[in-house]
Amino acid sequence: MKKKKLKLKSGARKIVIILSAIILLIVILLGFYFNRVNELRSLGYSEKASKNIIFKFKYSYVRDIGKNKTLNAAFESRDYKEKNLDDYVKIDYDNQKHLITNINKLLDKGYSVNEVSLIINRGDDESVSDFAKRDKVKYIDEFLKVDYAKLANYDRYVAYQEKENDDAETTVLYVNMDFDKENYVDPLVINKFDDYVLVNKHRQLSSEYIPDDLVKIKDEYVKVDGDIEIERNVAKAFYDMAEAASKEGLELMVSSGYRSYKDQEEITNTYLELYGQNYVDNYVAKPGFSEHQTAMSLDIASKSVDTFINSKEYSWMMDNAYKYGFILRYPKSKEDITGYKCEAWHYRYVGKKIAKYIKEHNITYDEYYVMFLDK
Ligand code: DAL
Ligand code: ZN
Repeated sequence: MKKKKLKLKSGARKIVIILSAIILLIVILLGFYFNRVNELRSLGYSEKASKNIIFKFKYSYVRDIGKNKTLNAAFESRDYKEKNLDDYVKIDYDNQKHLITNINKLLDKGYSVNEVSLIINRGDDESVSDFAKRDKVKYIDEFLKVDYAKLANYDRYVAYQEKENDDAETTVLYVNMDFDKENYVDPLVINKFDDYVLVNKHRQLSSEYIPDDLVKIKDEYVKVDGDIEIERNVAKAFYDMAEAASKEGLELMVSSGYRSYKDQEEITNTYLELYGQNYVDNYVAKPGFSEHQTAMSLDIASKSVDTFINSKEYSWMMDNAYKYGFILRYPKSKEDITGYKCEAWHYRYVGKKIAKYIKEHNITYDEYYVMFLDK
C-alpha cells in the first residue's frame, strides 16, 4: 500500500515536470517571437507583415535588408511569392491596392525589376492592373524613364513616335500635351480647380465654372468701358507691377480680365463676324477653352499707346513681368505649342517662382504644367 502511493506520487511528479517544461518552452518561444516582432516593427514593418515574415522563416533575410516598403507590402499580401522575394526588394514602392499581384504578373511576363518599377511608378492602380493583363511590350524603359511619363499614355507614345520620329522625351512631352489630338477634339474636362489650372485647346472648363474670389480692378487701371474682374491675388500682383512700372514713368492698364463662358461666346461671335474663322482660330479661344474664364489672365494695355506692342510698357513687361509672377502666355516663338498666334498683351499669373523658371528656360506654361504639375 505504501509502495503504491509512492509510485503515484512519482508519476504525478513526472507529469508536473513535463508540463512545466512545455510551459517554459512556450514562454521562451513566445518571448522569442515577440522579441522578433518588436524588432521588425522597429524596422518599419507592420504587425501583419512581421508575423508573416516570422512564420515564413524570413526573419534574418528581412533584418539584413532593413526597411523596405515593397517587402512590407509583399508580406502583407496573400499573393506573396517566395520566388519573387529578391525582386520585391528592388522594386520601388507605390501605394497601390494590387501592388504585389501586379508585380508578380509583370515579373511573370518577363519584365525586368527596373521595368516593373517604372511601370508601377508611372501609373495608378487601375492603369497598372490593366497593363499587367497585356502581353509584354517594348520600349518601356525608353518612354517611362521620363519622369513625367504616364503609363496610361504608353500606346500613344508608341504611335506618336512612329509617326513623328521625335526622341522619347519630346514624344512624352508632346503626347502629354495632347499634340497627337486635333485642337478641341476629345478635350479633357477640367475638374480640379486651383491657381495653377491649365486651360488650352485640349483642356476645357465647364460652362458653369466661375472662379472664387473675384475682385474688381481699380477704375484707374481699366482701359475699357465697364468693370473688369480678376482673381484677388492676380489683382494684387498687378497693382505691385503697375506701381513698379509707374516709377519708371510707364502706365500699365488692363483691357480684359475674367470672362465668363457667355462673355467668351459673345466675343467669339463678334470676332467671327468681324474677321472670320481664320482669325478666331488663331486669336480667340472657343467658349470653355479660354484662360480668361479662370480669372488668372489679364490683357495688358498701355495708357497712352493703343497698339500695345508699339508701347514702352510692352518692352518693360517683356523684361519685368516675371518678377511679379506674370508670363507672356502666347509668345511668337511658341505658336506651335500654344496653338495661338502671338498675343503681346495676354499675360497669365503663375506666381513668381514658376514665372522665373518659365522665363529662364524659355518654355510655355503648357510645357511647364506637363513637366511639373500634371501629377
Ligand atoms: N485670346 C485668348 C486666346 C482667349 O480668347 O482666351
Ligand atoms: Zn487675353
